[in-house]
Amino acid sequence: MSDPQTPSSLSSQPNLSPNEANSQWGGRFSQSPDEILQAINVSIDTDKKLWSQDIQGSTAHIAMLRDQNIVSASDADAIINGLKLIRSEIETGQFRFKREHEDIHMNIEARLRELIGPPAGRLHTARSRNDQVATDFKIWVREALAHIMSLIQDLRLGLYERALSEIDTILPGFTHLQPAQPVSLAHHFLAYVSILKRDYGRMEDALKRADSCPLGAGALAGTPFNIDRFATAKALGFAEPMDNSLDAVSSRDFALEALSAAAICANTCSRMAEEWVLWSSPSFGFIGFSDAFSTGSSIMPQKRNPDAAELVRAKSGRVTGSLVCLLMVMKGLPLAYSKDMQDDKAPVFEAFEALELALRALSGMVRDMKINRDKMRSACDLGYLTATDLADWLVRTLDLPFREAHHITGAAVKRAEALGVDLSQLSLEEMRLLDARITEDVYSVLSVEASVSSRTSYGGTAPSAVKEQCARLKREFS
Ligand code: ARG
Repeated sequence: MSDPQTPSSLSSQPNLSPNEANSQWGGRFSQSPDEILQAINVSIDTDKKLWSQDIQGSTAHIAMLRDQNIVSASDADAIINGLKLIRSEIETGQFRFKREHEDIHMNIEARLRELIGPPAGRLHTARSRNDQVATDFKIWVREALAHIMSLIQDLRLGLYERALSEIDTILPGFTHLQPAQPVSLAHHFLAYVSILKRDYGRMEDALKRADSCPLGAGALAGTPFNIDRFATAKALGFAEPMDNSLDAVSSRDFALEALSAAAICANTCSRMAEEWVLWSSPSFGFIGFSDAFSTGSSIMPQKRNPDAAELVRAKSGRVTGSLVCLLMVMKGLPLAYSKDMQDDKAPVFEAFEALELALRALSGMVRDMKINRDKMRSACDLGYLTATDLADWLVRTLDLPFREAHHITGAAVKRAEALGVDLSQLSLEEMRLLDARITEDVYSVLSVEASVSSRTSYGGTAPSAVKEQCARLKREFS
């Protein structure tokens, strides 16, 4: 057991007296905590990520206590200056996070006491770690959502920019991964631009609902001090304080909602990555990645592996796992705070780190990708992609019911297959055996290019319709 977080390595720490074990709550204790209690209770390795949010929250809190005449200006200023010093110590890597202080909140407060002495003890007036941690974590989640949203926008921009020069590039569109109908490559890229817009929107919605501040809820019931929760909410960038103190300390739906949005977005990323894995396989050969986005095999010298895309695909599992994990942590917790909630952070941190990597990898890959237009076009010659066009022609020109047209077209495909030719290569005589009224005009719809150009409906794949999509998006990206 060499992992520094394991109980056995903790036992190598000096045996702590109850007060050392935690000077911030050890007053009524006469025995020190068992080693395994310390091991399970410590969260600093995870929640030190909240250091900046904790300093923001404490600074807003103490400034409010000063303005409300709850703490003297001199003590408050000493605390604010001490917190500034701690910020710079952490930023420059000089701060020592100590496991005996359990979590980020007590690490910072303990250091404040070392720096400024007894006035440090006034910081926790009218506050509990319960509203403190809820506030820190909510600020972190809001910042993370905003960051992820900017990464989504960057990926959308990368896809949009590639789309602009691929409007006339044609590749097979698939259903069931079987060749279905030809589509414009730009159209395919723009599908993801639309999907990612909704992923972005879900995060925007989550942010709207996460716009109220828990700080000032105390342990669970509020506080007898004359605090100003509106002032701290405003100072921390929230629209308002949360309405109910029990809700404020015990709800993590802001994190669950952020994780749900993250899981859906990671799912989008995974689907896109999966296509790029397929497309870059020599069996498709539609795209290739430069050395910057390919890895080699240690045994097979010919290999160029799309590792980044594969890992994007995998990240979706982690993000979804995090969502399920937090749902399970929260399930069945009575109001208000329970220590289970200390385990809310690891899944959220892991999910956002994974999603950030996924989005950045895709953004890099879309800009790096080499597009093999010829391969895409020649793949359209397999699979009778214009069969629907033949059926539609029969409906339009001969006024056949679609079902009948479908049946005749099926027979045409069968005949073409038997002769080893494409639909457009079936002679008019062959066609007329299927329906004597078929004319030469039918060939005008049987080319792949004609098929794409004909799909001019709003949101369709015809170059004219794709250009309209681009024009609508231009407003978003300029
Ligand atoms: N480290 C704790 C957490 O993340 C802080 C809150 C502790 N509150 C308590 N009543 N013990 O949840």
